[in-house]
Amino acid sequence: MSHTMIPVITADAIQKRVAELGAEISAHYQGQPLVCVCVLKGAFLFFADLMRHITGGPEIDFLRLASYGASTSRGCEGLFTKDIEVDVAGKHVLLVEDIVDTGRSAEHLLRVLEKRGAASLKICAFVDKHERREIEVTVDFAGFPIQKGFIVGYGMDYAEKYRELDAVYELVPK
Ligand code: IMP
Ligand code: MG
Repeated sequence: MSHTMIPVITADAIQKRVAELGAEISAHYQGQPLVCVCVLKGAFLFFADLMRHITGGPEIDFLRLASYGASTSRGCEGLFTKDIEVDVAGKHVLLVEDIVDTGRSAEHLLRVLEKRGAASLKICAFVDKHERREIEVTVDFAGFPIQKGFIVGYGMDYAEKYRELDAVYELVPK
């Protein structure tokens, strides 16, 4: 199926908002021990830009969730295809996601990381998308709220395409 790409967030608006978020997050943690975790792949550009606005010397790590079917429940830790490597015990952890949609991924991540003794766990998402939310997860630091629509660019993909774009577009079937 072919699609039209409608611009929804410009590169300039993204950079401005990311700087604001970085300041907000830095003020919140005030230099306490912080581990920032990039949830791959979708958050890779957002994470790289955001980290340049975080003060206080955070530790940085990466994880990747295995993809899952809609009806699969994920109860154990084996469901990362790449796990973080730093010890989070006693440290504050900030999960950095591209987009929180149903809330399932975020909830799963919170559940697994909670068991590892983090001092606190918070979520930062570039986009907080509300329409399909199934699980009440709180996005503590949200870049842009979006009601609905399938978006690509700035890390986000459709079938592994469009991740490299520096702006965000809605994909609309022609
Ligand atoms: P959920 O919150 O568990 O439903 O899943 C969030 C994940 O679904 C995100 O990390 C994205 O990888 C993917 N996703 C959800 N909505 C979109 C979208 O509009 N564009 C691209 N990926 C999306
Ligand atoms: Mg994805």
